[in-house]
Amino acid sequence: MFSPFCASPFWYGKEVMVMANGTEKSVREREGAEAKVTQIVLLYVLLVHGLYGAGGSLHCEYSSAGSLHRPHSVSITEFGAVGDGVTLNTKAFQNALFYLNSFSDKGGAKLFVPAGQWLTGSFDLISHLTLWLDKGATILGSTASDHLFLLPQSSENWPVVDPLPSYGRGRELPGRRHRSLIYGQNLTDVVITGQNGTIDGQGSVWWDWFRNGELNYTRPHLVELINSTGLIISNLTFLNSPFWNIHPVYCRDVVVKNLTILAPLESPNTDGVDPDSSTNVCIEDCYIVTGDDLVSIKSGWDEYGISYARPSSKIKINRLRGQTTSSSGIAIGSEMSGGVSEIYISDLHLFNSNTGIRIKTSPGRGGYVRNVHVSNVKLDNVQKAIRFTGKYGEHPDEKFDPRALPAIERITFENVNGGDIGVAGLLEGIEGDEFKNICFLNVTLTVKKKSKKSPWKCSNVRGYSQWVSPEITCDSFEEGIFPEHSSDCFGLSESNLETSSGLSRSPWLLSW
Ligand SMILES: *[C@@H]1O[C@H](CO)[C@@H](O)[C@H](O)[C@H]1NC(C)=O
Ligand SMILES: *[C@@H]1O[C@H](CO)[C@@H](O)[C@H](O)[C@H]1NC(C)=O
Ligand SMILES: *[C@@H]1O[C@H](CO)[C@@H](O)[C@H](O)[C@H]1NC(C)=O
Ligand SMILES: *[C@@H]1O[C@H](CO)[C@@H](O)[C@H](O)[C@H]1NC(C)=O
Ligand SMILES: *[C@@H]1O[C@H](CO)[C@@H](O)[C@H](O)[C@H]1NC(C)=O
Ligand SMILES: *[C@@H]1O[C@H](CO)[C@@H](O)[C@H](O)[C@H]1NC(C)=O
Ligand SMILES: *[C@@H]1O[C@H](CO)[C@@H](O)[C@H](O)[C@H]1NC(C)=O
Repeated sequence: MFSPFCASPFWYGKEVMVMANGTEKSVREREGAEAKVTQIVLLYVLLVHGLYGAGGSLHCEYSSAGSLHRPHSVSITEFGAVGDGVTLNTKAFQNALFYLNSFSDKGGAKLFVPAGQWLTGSFDLISHLTLWLDKGATILGSTASDHLFLLPQSSENWPVVDPLPSYGRGRELPGRRHRSLIYGQNLTDVVITGQNGTIDGQGSVWWDWFRNGELNYTRPHLVELINSTGLIISNLTFLNSPFWNIHPVYCRDVVVKNLTILAPLESPNTDGVDPDSSTNVCIEDCYIVTGDDLVSIKSGWDEYGISYARPSSKIKINRLRGQTTSSSGIAIGSEMSGGVSEIYISDLHLFNSNTGIRIKTSPGRGGYVRNVHVSNVKLDNVQKAIRFTGKYGEHPDEKFDPRALPAIERITFENVNGGDIGVAGLLEGIEGDEFKNICFLNVTLTVKKKSKKSPWKCSNVRGYSQWVSPEITCDSFEEGIFPEHSSDCFGLSESNLETSSGLSRSPWLLSW
C-alpha cells in the first residue's frame, strides 16, 4: 500500500508502537492511538531524540519507490490537447482523467504532460494518479474567471464550490469560492511531479480583480486537495498563483519536496504551502519567494473551525529557503481554531524579509498551538525575527465567541542566528490568556545599529531563556532553562542538553 510519511522520530516512534502490537491497524484505530500521544512522545524522547537534535540527516520518507512507478501512462496529447499556450485544454485534462480512472485498481496511471504551454481551466484529479510535467512543460491557468458552466460554449474555467466547513465561508469573501486549478477530493495516492515542469497560475489578473474589488468569490489556489491521503508534490516549479499555492486540507500523509515556488513580492496572499487541518505532512527542500507567508500552518476559522475540530499535527518542515517582504517565513495561524500541535521546523533560511517565524491568533479563535520546535534558523536582514500576535482579529462573521480563547504553549526556539535584524522578538499574548512555556535557547540575533526599538518586547507571554543575545529584558523570561525548566520546554535537542550539563548560565555567556 502507498503511504508516504515523514521519517521524523515522532513517526518512527509511532510505527514502532504499531508494529510491536503485531497487527495492522486501520486508520481509525491509528487516530485513536493518538490519544496515547504522551506515551509516544516519551518513546520518541528515549529512542531517537538525539538523532533529531543532531539535525540535517532526516528526510521525508516515501514508503516505497515503487509507488512512483505507474504501469500505465498516457500523454495529454492523446486527448486532443494542444500545447500552444492559446488553446484551452480543460476538456482534454478532464477526459484524460476520466479515462485513467479505469486503471485505479490496476496500479494506477500516469498522465504525461510533454514540453509545451498547456492552457487550462480547473480540473479534478483522481486516485492512484501521477500527474507528470516533463521538462519544459507548463500548465497555464486560464485568465478568464468564468464559472457559468451551465451556459453553452462557456469555458468552465474556474467553477465555484462550497466553502470549507472549517471556514464557514470563502477566506476573503463571504459565500462560495473558486475551485483551485488542480483540485481533488476524497483521493488516495496522488503524485504531482516531473522534471521541473511548471504550474503557472497567471495570477496577475486575479491580483488586479482583488485589488480593484471586482471579485465575486474568493480566489482559487493552484493546487487544493481535500480529505485525501498519500500525496506527493515534488520536483516542480509553481509560478504566480492567484491565491495560496498549495493547500492540503483534511489530508494525511503528505510530502511536499523540492519545489520552487515564486510569485512577486507584492502579490496579494500568494502563500507558498498551507497545510490545513492535516496530519503527517512533510515539507522539505523548498525555495519559496512569494507575496505572503512561505509556509502557513492552519486549522480552521473561529466558530467554524472550533466545531469542525480538525487539528493540524505532526508537521515537519526542513530546509526551507526564501523571502517574503510582507509576511513570515513560517506562520502558524491565524486560522488555528481546530488546534495545531507537534510541529518540527528545522533549517529555515530567510533573507531580506519581514518576519522570521510568527504565531497569529485572536480571541474568538479558540483552539491551541502547542508543542512546536523550531531549530537551526538563519535570518539575514529580517525586520522581526520572532513574532507572536494575540489580537490578529479577522473574523468570518459576527457569530464568533470572543470568550473562545486560544491556548498557546510549549513553543521552543533553539539555535537561531540572525544578522541585520530589526526587532529580535515582538511577543504579544492575550490579556488573561498568557502564552506560556515559550523557550529560547541559543538564540543570537544581531540587531541593526540604527534600530532604536528595544530588541525584545513582551506582553502576556511567559517562558524561559538561556544563551540568548541580545538578552531578553522582559521579566517574564527572567528564568533560565537549565536545569529546573528543561522539561517545561518542548523538544530540547540532545546537543544543547549535553552542553548544559555542568554549565551554569553565566560562564557560557562569557564565552560569546
Ligand atoms: C467526498 O466525500 C463526501 C462525504 O462522503 C461527499 O459528500 C462528497 O461528495 C465526496 N466528494 C467527491 C468529489 O467525491
Ligand atoms: C473523505 O473521503 C472518504 C473516502 O476517501 C469518505 O468516506 C469520507 O466520507 C470523506 N469525508 C469527507 C468529510 O469528505
Ligand atoms: C529536484 O528537482 C529537480 C527538478 O526539478 C531535479 O533535477 C533534482 O534532482 C531534484 N533534487 C532532489 C534532491 O530531488
Ligand atoms: C526549475 O525551474 C525554475 C524556474 O525556471 C528555476 O528557477 C529552478 O532553478 C529550476 N530548478 C532546477 C533544479 O533546475
Ligand atoms: C463578477 O460578476 C459580474 C456580474 O456577473 C461580472 O460581470 C464580473 O465579470 C465578475 N467578476 C469576476 C472577476 O469574475
Ligand atoms: C524527484 O527527483 C529526484 C531526482 O531526480 C528523484 O530521485 C525523485 O524520485 C523525484 N521525485 C519524484 C516524486 O518523482
Ligand atoms: C547554537 O546555534 C548555532 C546556530 O545558530 C549552532 O551553530 C551552535 O552549534 C549552537 N550551539 C549549541 C551548543 O548547540
